[in-house]
Amino acid sequence: MLVTAKEMLEKARDGKYAVGAFNINNLEWTKSILLTAEELRSPVILGVSEGAGKYMTGFKTVTAMVKAMIEELKITVPVALHLDHGTYEGCLKCIEAGFSSIMFDGSHYPIEENVEKTKELVAICREKGMSIEAEVGSIGGEEDGVVGMGECADPDECKRIADLGIDMLAAGIGNIHGKYPANWQGLSFETLAAIQEKVGNMPLVLHGGTGIPEDMIKKAISLGVAKINVNTECQLSFAAATREYIEAGKDQQGKGYDPRKLLAPGAEAIKQTVKEKMEMFGSVGKA
Ligand code: 13P
Repeated sequence: MLVTAKEMLEKARDGKYAVGAFNINNLEWTKSILLTAEELRSPVILGVSEGAGKYMTGFKTVTAMVKAMIEELKITVPVALHLDHGTYEGCLKCIEAGFSSIMFDGSHYPIEENVEKTKELVAICREKGMSIEAEVGSIGGEEDGVVGMGECADPDECKRIADLGIDMLAAGIGNIHGKYPANWQGLSFETLAAIQEKVGNMPLVLHGGTGIPEDMIKKAISLGVAKINVNTECQLSFAAATREYIEAGKDQQGKGYDPRKLLAPGAEAIKQTVKEKMEMFGSVGKA
């Protein structure tokens, strides 16, 4: 069933585990994630970036696909359909398209502007019964070939945003999207602890889940992280399995070129990655 992220994250925060938010990019991706969540009895969040939404011919198409898949595959675990790193306009579109949750990423605005825009979106989400995530301190990552180290959010700014009535807060603690560079300093637990002290019970969100070592994941969960976003790791495992299939010449054997056969190893690889993450995050059996 399609639900908001709010209740699942409050349960996760109290139970000291985290719910995985896995980005979906196409039908295979979505199906693999949903089937794995159902098999492991884990709640799950399907993240959709604006780029992926456009690729899948718009947010309304995504909502229809996810709802139909939940019904056809008989998925009974809680599923949230969530906009990942949304712009203000993107948030409005997803609200209209029937998403159950949005993220407004106002981290690149001056704090006053982030506060104003977040406040407006909180009011709309309250009215519609949707959940909303906000961000303070931008998450690093590769842009134009330059890998930026993640920022550390200001705990006081985190409190200002948390007090607006959001349901979950993404705060930069040195995390970055994509692969971590060899000289990465690791997560700043000092910053995370300071943020948690300011925002109290607010479920915290850790972006850039790809490649974060298990001990850091566990420590982050102990300090209030209840949602962990993973994207690149599913992309990497999908690409590796597809490459292996082609390099073994399987697409040239019989009807191995049939896209249903060609995409199958990648879809299986995503299931394995999602399973490993759900086990690491502790969400298995928590549906
Ligand atoms: P990764 O691609 O590094 O796993 O990050 C995913 C993410 O945080 C999406 O918002």
